[in-house]
Amino acid sequence: MKRVFVRWLTHRSRIPPVLRLSLAVVLAALAAVGLAAPASQGQQSLGGAPSGEVNPPSKSPEPPGPGDPTKTFPDSPALRIEGYNLYQQGCSSCHGISLEGTAGVAPSLRGVGAGPVDFYLSTGRMPLEQPREEPLRNEPAYDRSQIDALIAFISSYGGPAAPTADPSRGDLALGFHAFTLNCAGCHQIVARGGITVNAQAPDLEETTPQQIAEAVRMGPYLMPHFDATAIDQHTLDSIARYVLWTRHPDDAGGWGIYNIGPIPEGMVAWFIGLAALVLVARLIGERMDEPV
Ligand code: HEC
Ligand code: HEC
Repeated sequence: MKRVFVRWLTHRSRIPPVLRLSLAVVLAALAAVGLAAPASQGQQSLGGAPSGEVNPPSKSPEPPGPGDPTKTFPDSPALRIEGYNLYQQGCSSCHGISLEGTAGVAPSLRGVGAGPVDFYLSTGRMPLEQPREEPLRNEPAYDRSQIDALIAFISSYGGPAAPTADPSRGDLALGFHAFTLNCAGCHQIVARGGITVNAQAPDLEETTPQQIAEAVRMGPYLMPHFDATAIDQHTLDSIARYVLWTRHPDDAGGWGIYNIGPIPEGMVAWFIGLAALVLVARLIGERMDEPV
């Protein structure tokens, strides 16, 4: 076996030199074109990362469009009092005693409304440990009734109604299209997450449709927010439907390689492609028997 391989490696090529030369020229041209291709632009203009002493500005969430469905949370004087107490213990050190925010630490929560509060608390992003770290998805620190209490208290300072999304009313093809256009640049095409400038875009495998609607309208951290003219209610429902679909993608043909896209695909290209190049080099190369 080894002998056969060594013979194959060292025997004189039987392909005529003209053919070998033209193959080499074509491959070299392809390589030059590949190397010269402009790098993809990636995501730009993220509004700047929070840096140094500058505090991330409070982004006021976009209200749902006129006539669009909204999510209502329970509200009562007793809930607001409970929310007030929880707020003073868990949030006021950064967001201020009366929601006014603290310069250089955390934004004001006046007028953010129910959506951002529900989003940040139900995904376990708040309370933050350190004001300058990126809020990441976590085990929620509060149970549902405490979250409702905090929502009741904070939204008593005003703000838009919370958006909502109903995937059963969405359209999968439209959702795929809208997600590709608006979200995939950061979250990757099948929502497996990715890295953007100064932030990590999470995978959306545990996100609920409610949280998707809230995230789209408020734009947490460095994510942009989208109003009802950019993404209307039907598109929002469709995006939610598409995100749910991505949890069970239909890998028709080819390897899924965990559906995380370019990285494993690049590795396959490198290893299989590289091996193929060595083979081609062997095919077109010619062995010198004696030094000239
Ligand atoms: C510029 C990059 C960018 C774009 C574009 C973007 N996002 Fe995001 N998204 C992020 C980042 C960064 C976070 C994490 C925010 C944080 O840590 O608080 C995030 C968080 C989320 C979350 C919360 C996920 C979870 O489980 O905690 C959802 C849902 C979401 N995005 C949906 C969307 C949708 C839908 C779109 C398209 C309409 C979109 N995003 C467009 C960067 C982006
Ligand atoms: C260690 C400081 C800290 C603590 C404690 C904290 N936060 Fe925050 N919070 C921040 C920072 C910093 C941001 C801005 C993060 C960003 O840009 O996404 C923020 C953002 C928010 C937002 C989004 C505001 C907007 O502009 O849309 C909400 C809602 C919120 N916090 C709620 C809470 C609640 C409720 C609590 C208490 C349970 C809490 N936070 C505790 C630091 C803190």
